Amino acid sequence: MVEVSSSILSVEKGEEARTFLALEQGKTDYFHIDVMDGKFVEKNTYDKMLEYASYIKRISNLPLDVHFMVQDVKKAIEDFSILEPNIMTFHYEACKTDEEVIEYIDEIKEAHSKVGIAIKPNTNIEKIYKFLPYIHIALIMTVEPGKGGQTFLSDMTEKINKCNEFIKNNDLEVDIEVDGGINLNTQDAVKEAGANILVAGTAILKAVNYGEIIKELKK
Ligand code: DX5
Ligand code: ZN
Repeated sequence: MVEVSSSILSVEKGEEARTFLALEQGKTDYFHIDVMDGKFVEKNTYDKMLEYASYIKRISNLPLDVHFMVQDVKKAIEDFSILEPNIMTFHYEACKTDEEVIEYIDEIKEAHSKVGIAIKPNTNIEKIYKFLPYIHIALIMTVEPGKGGQTFLSDMTEKINKCNEFIKNNDLEVDIEVDGGINLNTQDAVKEAGANILVAGTAILKAVNYGEIIKELKK
């Protein structure tokens, strides 16, 4: 089964309430919350995303899929835990040691959220293999993290494929989430390679009918 996680990063100011409601009516599976700290990536969306996620939590029962593009993962877990996200994902590249990775996995589990590890396009997928037995989601970035509306990096399909093979060969239960440049033209490649959670921002928010595109992406 393929699920859709709608990124609200590029929601228009003043249109938030209407957009969130339309995404829910359009049957998104998750709200994807892109948390940026101005250090791990240039942009800073930290307070805005905390505010949006709190608002969504009040108006909707749909799960929050929180993607931390931050250096201080520990603080982000602390700040967002109060919203009881269904998923909290941090970047492998934000960790200096393997111990640090394990520490964040444990902290997210203590907050009763599912754990995701994200990797940037230039990071080898092999780097996260040893952590897969302990986590729920591998988030493979299909653009350089930092902003919405970028072009899908087609080389990433090979990485998705490799990760999928490893998961299957080791009898693991790990979802593969892809994030960046996913739309009606790029969806087939990532699904064929083994991705089962598709993040989409621009493709959905620019569509006239959110429900229609979400339905296509879920097929
Ligand atoms: C990129 C973010 C993505 C992105 C998705 O740093 O993690 O979630 O905003 O947006 P689109 O679908 O526009 O690439
Ligand atoms: Zn994201």
